[in-house]
Amino acid sequence: MEGELKLEEREISQAVIRRLPRYYRYLGELLENGVERISSNDLSRRMKVTASQIRQDLNNFGGFGQQGYGYNVKYLYTEIGKILGLEEDHRMIIIGAGNLGQALANYAAFEKRGFILKGIFDVNPRLAGMTIRGVPVRMIEELGEFVKDNEVEIAALTIPKDRAVEVADLLVANGVRAIWNFAHTDLNLPEHVIVENVHLSESLMQLSYKINRFNEEHKK
Ligand code: NAI
Repeated sequence: MEGELKLEEREISQAVIRRLPRYYRYLGELLENGVERISSNDLSRRMKVTASQIRQDLNNFGGFGQQGYGYNVKYLYTEIGKILGLEEDHRMIIIGAGNLGQALANYAAFEKRGFILKGIFDVNPRLAGMTIRGVPVRMIEELGEFVKDNEVEIAALTIPKDRAVEVADLLVANGVRAIWNFAHTDLNLPEHVIVENVHLSESLMQLSYKINRFNEEHKK
């Protein structure tokens, strides 16, 4: 039977949580293609994860599968979305309207997932009044009032690393609860503030490692 979610009864491992967005993405694609149910073997082939890993992961949530039926794609997609907190919109701002900040602001697909871009802030007066996908770039002096008026929850930090700590403190002082940190520096914030660090260069180094390993193996 499709199980009840009893999150409060279980401590779900970070490794499982890290895999959930990928399940969510694959299930979303299946849904778009009109697939209603899928066996763990089929899902395993598509995702290149073992079927037993899939069963184990999803059993963490009481197991959504049914013997001989497989997984109900819509149900699984919805439940994983709930676990990931995607059933509610998240109001977001971007601090730093440079290359990266503009690229993030231009990426409309975040909105489809419920991450609503409310504002973009910078210190460079030359950027004032510029709009990105209809969202104006504002000066950092307006931040405090804006965050309160718009109930901003998440701030993406795309500014130079030597400014990141002071700006993060300012954000927290104004009530921002979560920071998506792209600056290459650790932010030492109070425990109640949630920080997700993103380092594309780490991902690139993983790629380099794989190239290296492949080359070594094919030398023999
Ligand atoms: P950029 O120089 O194009 O943009 C930075 C922007 O931040 C500028 O518009 C600048 O005026 C603004 N800024 C500076 N101080 C500010 C402050 N106190 N408050 C608000 N805005 C401020 O730089 P780019 O290429 O967009 O990179 C931004 C940051 O992201 C850098 O720290 C860079 O190292 C980092 N980065 C991180 C990546 C990752 O994977 N984590 C990938 C690429 C960049």
